[in-house]
Amino acid sequence: MSGKLVAVANMKGGVGKTTTVVMLADALAASGASVLVVDLDPQASASICFAGDEILADLIREGRTLDHYLGLRIVDRDRAVLPDFVRAAISTTTHLGEPLAVSLLPSGPDLRIVEREIIYALTTRKFSMHAIESHLWKLFHEDFAPLRDRYDYVLFDCAPGISPMTEVAIRASDLVIVACIPDFLSTYGLKGFYRMIWGTPGGPESMLTPRRLPHVLVTRLQQNVKQHQTTLRSLTEGATAENPVFRLFATRVPQSAALANALTRQYTTYRNKYHDTYHDLIGGTIAPLMTEVKEVLHGA
Ligand SMILES: Nc1ncnc2c1ncn2[C@@H]1O[C@H](COP(=O)(O)OP(=O)(O)OP(=O)(O)O)[C@@H](O)[C@H]1O
Ligand SMILES: [Mg+2]
Repeated sequence: MSGKLVAVANMKGGVGKTTTVVMLADALAASGASVLVVDLDPQASASICFAGDEILADLIREGRTLDHYLGLRIVDRDRAVLPDFVRAAISTTTHLGEPLAVSLLPSGPDLRIVEREIIYALTTRKFSMHAIESHLWKLFHEDFAPLRDRYDYVLFDCAPGISPMTEVAIRASDLVIVACIPDFLSTYGLKGFYRMIWGTPGGPESMLTPRRLPHVLVTRLQQNVKQHQTTLRSLTEGATAENPVFRLFATRVPQSAALANALTRQYTTYRNKYHDTYHDLIGGTIAPLMTEVKEVLHGA
């Protein structure tokens, strides 16, 4: 069985990408799947959320983070083995008495520097930009794609903007979820994002345009805010237009204090139950979203 790769992205920051990754990782794991979260953001929000700051500090000190792996593998040309950097069974959230099967490939604060070093190191070796992109693409296929054999779902929490690793993950994923607050500024960049990835083939010929259109997920929806209603209408029109540049999930994530709190669970000392963490959101939001995501990934 081949696991699915899902990237959660948006050029815009603070739109609920990490919240979506955490919520979906927990939901998929609670449905019995094995899930790996790959943190591609130097802010390390998903890593902090799952590991808590103490364990994450240990992982960073021990060099068990994505930035260290990339540095070893590309800059030092070492034989770093990706699964060695994955922290298994990271979740302290339980379901039916068992911790959720979520593993984490954490990010560290040096990820941004390492991505820049990769460019320096490869240009020193006379790689063109084209060749650098090819190199990262190849590395992704050699090291990340085989994670499909180990997990049912690999979720990439992308950094805002487009970093080299983010672009490769977006292009290689089976589904790209674009988390979007339904306001003017948050949806403004959607076309640009589409043009950048779907509208232009990647540098090297092998670097593909993603197979599916990006799927917009409305986040932090406030029904009583007029601008949200207006933007929702234009998103619906955009998704049903003749040549759409995105699809739209029918499920909407509401503005919810419970969801914001779900990200800070590690700072409590007790184990949290999945149902206590998400309570009301499970029936109306999380379960239907998971069904939609699974339909896209496993449907015809
Ligand atoms: N549905 C929601 N209801 C209430 N608060 C939310 C919701 N979704 C996200 N938030 C809050 O909004 C803030 C930004 O969310 P999040 O970190 O998920 O965004 P992001 O897109 O990952 O940000 P970044 O671009 O910095 O990585 C956080 O404080 C989070 O708790
Ligand atoms: Mg984030």
